[in-house]
Amino acid sequence: MSPQALIDRLDSLEKAFADEIAPLSSEQDIRAAQARFLGKKGAVSEVMKQMGKLAPEDRKAVGQVANRVKASVEGEVARKLGELDEAARAADLSREVDVTLPGRARPRGHDHLLSQVRRDCVAIFTELGFDVAEGPQVETDWHNFEALGTGKDHPARDMQDTFYVGPDLVLRTHTSPVQIRTMLAEAPPIKIVAPGVVYRRDDDATHSPMFTQLEGLLVDREVRFSDLKGVLVHFVRRFFGQELDIRLRPSYFPFVEPGAEVDMQCAFCRRGDSGCRVCKGTGWVEIGGAGMVDPVVFEHVGYDPEAWTGFAFGMGPDRMAMLRHGVGDIKLLYDADLRFLRQF
Ligand code: PHE
Repeated sequence: MSPQALIDRLDSLEKAFADEIAPLSSEQDIRAAQARFLGKKGAVSEVMKQMGKLAPEDRKAVGQVANRVKASVEGEVARKLGELDEAARAADLSREVDVTLPGRARPRGHDHLLSQVRRDCVAIFTELGFDVAEGPQVETDWHNFEALGTGKDHPARDMQDTFYVGPDLVLRTHTSPVQIRTMLAEAPPIKIVAPGVVYRRDDDATHSPMFTQLEGLLVDREVRFSDLKGVLVHFVRRFFGQELDIRLRPSYFPFVEPGAEVDMQCAFCRRGDSGCRVCKGTGWVEIGGAGMVDPVVFEHVGYDPEAWTGFAFGMGPDRMAMLRHGVGDIKLLYDADLRFLRQF
């Protein structure tokens, strides 16, 4: 082809391109048209391949036209895409929105029953001036047992009850080691509650291998057993919102002396109805253990047993939850069944 024929061909391609994209209205179509003209096998490229056969001065003249046509094609593409963008934005702005339509309801969760009970329990004690303390769930043998007066031969250390993690490490079997950690870290007076998860090798309708406890410890000068009883009865009445009584039955825990088991009046039937499934007709329900801190514990943490006195208690918030809401099986608290949990 002669140089002029090539130039004419390029000029006609420029016009053809303008005609081709004029009616297009999608980015995809426009890009495809661009490729048909400027792509490796596109019409403009085909013309340029023939330039090699031209004399050098002709090649320059044709090359200039080719570059102009390329630039014009690219300019057209950019302009056309800009138009499309503008049109989309305008359509978006003119869309009518009915602001009076009701919103879309989003599902809302809430705290787990046990979290609610734990919060309520802790709040009753913080009202009384107790601080909240915490400790690890994997505990040393010394904190969990030894420092609490539970020697190596004590039945509570039986493999039946305790999950051992290592020769000297256990999953804590109660929250009482938090008493030890708190007293080691702070000087008396002490006034704390320690809510938390504990573990025992137990598994039936009223026992779960993992359950929660709420520990209490108060250390000061001349603390009396009646102080302990006063705090416990206040707690039970505040938690259940009823004038319930408590009963302290002599019992043994290695870290208190004297020690007691704490019963509360049945929140369900209140006096022991023969058919009551909660107290089984006795009128009383056990909610935990308590007692006066044994001097041997003070010795382990370096407190002077002659100068300091204290009381401690450990309660089961799981039990509290079951009692307050009439839940018959402790497993329901840990199964994560939403049909159950949604009710609270
Ligand atoms: N730690 C005891 C238990 O888990 C409960 C307890 C705590 C008893 C504090 C007395 C004082 O059985």
